Amino acid sequence: MTTAPPAAPTATAWRHRHLLDVDALSSSEIGLVLTGALRMADVARGDRDRPGTLRGIGLTTLFYEASTRTRVSFEVAGRLLGADVVTVAASASSVTKGESLLDTMRTLEALGARILVMRHATSGAPYLVARQFGGSVVNAGDGRHGHPTQALLDLYTLWRRLAPDADPASAFLAGRKVVILGDVLHSRVAHSNLWTLTAAGAEVWVCGPSTLLDGFEAWAGAGVGGTRPFRVTTDLHAALQDADAVMALRLQRERMTAGLLPSLGEYAARYGLTAERLAAARPGALVLHPGPMNEGLEIAPEVASGPQSLVTEQVANGVAVRMAVLTLLNEARTAR
Ligand code: CP
Repeated sequence: MTTAPPAAPTATAWRHRHLLDVDALSSSEIGLVLTGALRMADVARGDRDRPGTLRGIGLTTLFYEASTRTRVSFEVAGRLLGADVVTVAASASSVTKGESLLDTMRTLEALGARILVMRHATSGAPYLVARQFGGSVVNAGDGRHGHPTQALLDLYTLWRRLAPDADPASAFLAGRKVVILGDVLHSRVAHSNLWTLTAAGAEVWVCGPSTLLDGFEAWAGAGVGGTRPFRVTTDLHAALQDADAVMALRLQRERMTAGLLPSLGEYAARYGLTAERLAAARPGALVLHPGPMNEGLEIAPEVASGPQSLVTEQVANGVAVRMAVLTLLNEARTAR
């Protein structure tokens, strides 16, 4: 017997016209996204009719950095909701002729964009755009700062796997140990996940070489949001011991300054997530990676595609989560 899906998210409990990072979201708002995603999952799988929630709404993706899964899943999510989806790759736009970010935004708005999904190499760029854009801005990754929909889809994936009957607005990961492993220094995914994982009550351990943990000790002591401490260690075995889930991060060579790592080979030898190392975690511990993966570097190929890996499930869940986010933002925007 199938149980009835939880109630649909409503605009009365969602205050935001933009989604710039998860630190703006209360636990109940995070719960609204996860509940909404659960309702959208049938549509994303093609098992239910498309709702047409965004019919006639212009959704533009504007990416100044490369992307496969985030851009495509936002575009799939928009189409499933009936939006008029436009794709702009900055590398093939008038940006190459010197057009500014704000000029580009104004041009796209004049061409019908009402929801702007943007990725930029500069931390804070979506905040600048949101101050001037008439519609809704969704941050699809800004520099090292934030990647809110990645954190939300990671949390959704853990919710469905570890606590599917729990209220998604509750501390449903209480008593669960989650490890974030690797290049946390450059990772917007780590920053946003620290917020959502600790909000859901997880015991979070951050692990990597000391050069890639700079500043995290101080943050861990102060706590996420000033109240939710986490652990920081260079000891991979201690981090993995009895873990319920491990999130390996991509080594971001494009953001790496010289001298942070002796060599990629040494990094792989000391911090690569291998099957042997994963054995220290709980049996069946879940393995996540936001992608794209450097297999053989931060994660061994047999782990990346092994039975504990949720990597493709994360990608698939991203469509439903982004449908929920777009729906909530549109409701908030049109309610004004
Ligand atoms: N996880 C993620 O942001 O992947 P893309 O760079 O492919 O969008």
